[in-house]
Amino acid sequence: MEWNATLYDHEHEFVSRYGRGLIEILNPKAGEKILDMGCGTGDLTHQLFLMGCEVTGIDASESMIGKAKEKFSDIRFICADACRFELNEKFDAVFSNAVLHWIKDQDAVLQNVYTHLKQGGRFVAELGARGNVEKIRTTLKNTLREHGFTNQADISNWYFPSVAEYADKLEQHGFEIRLMEGYDRPTILQSLEKGIVDWLEMFGSAFFRGIQDTEKVKILNEVQDKLKKDLYQEDFWIADYKRLRFWATKERR
Ligand code: BEZ
Repeated sequence: MEWNATLYDHEHEFVSRYGRGLIEILNPKAGEKILDMGCGTGDLTHQLFLMGCEVTGIDASESMIGKAKEKFSDIRFICADACRFELNEKFDAVFSNAVLHWIKDQDAVLQNVYTHLKQGGRFVAELGARGNVEKIRTTLKNTLREHGFTNQADISNWYFPSVAEYADKLEQHGFEIRLMEGYDRPTILQSLEKGIVDWLEMFGSAFFRGIQDTEKVKILNEVQDKLKKDLYQEDFWIADYKRLRFWATKERR
């Protein structure tokens, strides 16, 4: 996945805005060593820094890490893959907002988080839950099929588990769950005119690989038109987000 860090900051700042609620669940204390896994352009890492934590932000995207370093030069940011990073230290907490659903190998990432936590350390995260952006996904896939792009329509690049499925995974990896909840979070998109088009350009680019620009624009607009009756209300586009968030601790296996 190629990320455009500037567009992410300008048009999709809601990702870190919503993430602030997750910081309340993390309840960080000054001096704690915290890893922000999938930090993007670093806004939440910076919030943790301002709370006196010793923070490190990692992200697999060079463009995101470049932007984070430019914005917050006092913070340590590292370009690294969540499944494979190796830091020679352990953390009081690993924090992760809106990242886990991008990761195919959940066993690798959970194992790696476990390895990097101190005994009793916290893993606090939020991700898309089963049924997340279902209307957008279904409409996009149907429209791609109608235009003959069946391979693209069959792409499955997000992982949206149920609460029970993810609780089971965490427990298999030695975590003890302290809090876990699934909830609907209708999300207002920043772009008023082209809410769905812009959202898909940012987050759904994989579906358009190999499709020419003119055809892509046609499909994007068609998807947006079809979604209007369900997701456009009082001059705003509202995406059908469903979330799962949890706080789990590392216990002995
Ligand atoms: C999410 O945060 O739920 C999400 C973002 C982009 C694509 C899919 C899901």
